[in-house]
Amino acid sequence: MKIGVIGAGKVGSTLAHLYVTAGNDVAIANSQGPDTLRDLEHQLGRHAHAVTVEEAARYGDVVIVAVPFCQFEDLPAEALAGRTVVDATNYVPERDGHDAELERGDVTSSELMQRHLAGAHVVKAFNAMRWDHLRDYGHSAGSNFRYGIPVSGDDPDAKWRVLDLVEEIGFEPVDAGPLVEGGRKYQPGTEVYTADLEADELRARIGVEAA
Ligand SMILES: NC(=O)c1ccc[n+]([C@@H]2O[C@H](COP(=O)([O-])OP(=O)(O)OC[C@H]3O[C@@H](n4cnc5c(N)ncnc54)[C@H](OP(=O)(O)O)[C@@H]3O)[C@@H](O)[C@H]2O)c1
Repeated sequence: MKIGVIGAGKVGSTLAHLYVTAGNDVAIANSQGPDTLRDLEHQLGRHAHAVTVEEAARYGDVVIVAVPFCQFEDLPAEALAGRTVVDATNYVPERDGHDAELERGDVTSSELMQRHLAGAHVVKAFNAMRWDHLRDYGHSAGSNFRYGIPVSGDDPDAKWRVLDLVEEIGFEPVDAGPLVEGGRKYQPGTEVYTADLEADELRARIGVEAA
């Protein structure tokens, strides 16, 4: 599969490594341009290349977004239309600035991203585990113990695609429902955020049944 990655910091570069290792082709971008990503491109190997944000957005059917949440309005909505956008971001007011709508709880951060990317299908995933645990905690298929990764989204096909992608890098996907409720269950401040739970325990804590 061809996967675009926007954001080449701790989370973006970690997921790029994991998906290249799993046999995918990755195009990765940051804000400063591809020439600043040559070392990372070299480390990722020949199945990855550094590109502009616009090129990463248009690269594949799936695009992972791993930028500070406050940058979401810079995402190229037209280029991302029709694609599955994996929202790995978190709203962190100290970094992102205060947003009254989010702080009242009227909306989740992924719904705001979905509002901006009206033609895309936003699926929230990978936001609730630390980047170094994402890097290190995947287990091969058939393993007795696997960490759960919660996934939420409104478009069923896009969500299935992301559930499969979670599985592909050694985690057990946990369907947490649509963005409106799913996002609330595992955002910063919730008990499961960065708790690194085995999948059944994660399901129990966020109140969902196994598929
Ligand atoms: N760190 C964690 O353990 C962790 C875990 C789960 C989720 N998250 C969330 O994931 C997101 C990324 O976190 P991180 O720790 O990976 O951050 P990071 O290491 O600071 O990396 C951020 C990346 O985003 C890029 N970026 C910033 N603004 C951009 C824009 N407008 N367009 C394109 N790229 C842009 C930066 O590029 P430049 O350097 O060129 O500006 C950088 O490559 C955040 O929302 C964070 O809350 C973090």
